[in-house]
Amino acid sequence: MMSAALEATDRASEKEIARNDYPAGFPALHPVPIGRYTDPAFLEAENRHLWKSSWLLAGTEGDIPESGSYILFENAGLSIIISRGDNGVIRAFHNICRHRAAALLEKPQGKAKRFVCPYHAWSYSHEGKLVSVPREHDFACIEKAKLGLIPVRCESWRGMIFINCDMDAAPLSELLAPIAKSTEGFPIETVVTRGHFRIEMDCNWKLAYQNFLEFYHAPAIHAQSLVPHFSLKSFHMSLLGNAHVSYAIKKKGGNSVYVGDAAFAPEGIDPVYYDYMISLGLFPNSFAALDPAGFALQSFWPLGVDRSVMEVRMLGWDTGKDEGNYWEAVRERFDVVVGEDTRYTRTLQRSCESGFATDLIMGYQERALYRFEEELDRQIGVENIPEHLRVTQVLRLAPRPGSGNAAIDHPAASIDGRPSSGGRASDRPPALISAPDEYLRAGAPTGRTRSFTDRVRSGPDGAS
Ligand code: FES
Ligand SMILES: [Fe+2]
Repeated sequence: MMSAALEATDRASEKEIARNDYPAGFPALHPVPIGRYTDPAFLEAENRHLWKSSWLLAGTEGDIPESGSYILFENAGLSIIISRGDNGVIRAFHNICRHRAAALLEKPQGKAKRFVCPYHAWSYSHEGKLVSVPREHDFACIEKAKLGLIPVRCESWRGMIFINCDMDAAPLSELLAPIAKSTEGFPIETVVTRGHFRIEMDCNWKLAYQNFLEFYHAPAIHAQSLVPHFSLKSFHMSLLGNAHVSYAIKKKGGNSVYVGDAAFAPEGIDPVYYDYMISLGLFPNSFAALDPAGFALQSFWPLGVDRSVMEVRMLGWDTGKDEGNYWEAVRERFDVVVGEDTRYTRTLQRSCESGFATDLIMGYQERALYRFEEELDRQIGVENIPEHLRVTQVLRLAPRPGSGNAAIDHPAASIDGRPSSGGRASDRPPALISAPDEYLRAGAPTGRTRSFTDRVRSGPDGAS
């Protein structure tokens, strides 16, 4: 069966298969300073300016099915309660009692009529209101109405719950608008969690995450495990607005990477997901390789400058069909492939800390990594990053062909015409780029363009 998405993906594959040169007009990528993965100053900048002001994936609506259901988000130094209230509304609060700051909840998931602090039993409603204080008359002047739980922004996108500690952040829908097209025809909103686990890694979270934003490493380290299931040369990637990425690889030997042919996929999935593995990288730290029978959604969190954790949700659907041992097979395959990856991420960290390596080099097939690093600096604020740790803004500021202008003169636009988002709506600079792949499609100048103008190099953020 054909679909418009499948036709377009086939066309993009053929184009990539025919490519034997560095794409004309695509800018060269600068070396990336290694201190971004080892320097506590960079970790500190992330802690202050990234995790506390970004939309972060926290779970699925299916994780909190009923009134009173809650999950605890505990990553990147944050502890946040996400719960469903009496009227079905999902809310989020810092897991901090307003009395003397004890954590209200400790279990990762559960159901509660009230949130009762285990220390002195102050209790709070699902709406976050302080409802009872034992021996209230012993407090001279508390105003209960002013001592509700501290709210956290909480919004859902197609059944996925995200939180943001920045109450002034732009809406989640703006951040995710660029990936809407890439996920059409895939019923994300109805997924159910089939498994949830965490894998600790001895490397900076960015090194681990970046591994999943490229497929260049597959022939070398996944020769037995992954390569036989794909037509490798069909791999192609689109850089999307807001630093998200999608890439596609044609499958061979069955429609599921995990079990050959998955006969229990839900109805209505676009044929493109049967013929291709479509992978998504969601800025800043999540990744999923979509599969019609169910898939792993991975998020990467820091545990320190040289340690991190990969949180994995196995997501499928309640189709009523027999799934056999599908999820065991997924886990088995996942462990083999990710084991091959993490074996190398460990050595990357050691090398980065050796003092002998100074930069990482990224090529065209690794452009999503570079775009990720650029956006990280923008989100953190270039002025908050020591100069020697900054990445040169290249892709975000790339000029559009035919405009006659350098990017810094180009009107704000992202791939779908919406402004880039993800930070405070009020103080972020406008986005300056359509996806570079769009840029190329628009008709790049002829010849190999592998240098930069000084103007682009010293963009409006002051990055250099
Ligand atoms: S710290 Fe919560 S009731 Fe005292
Ligand atoms: Fe890999």
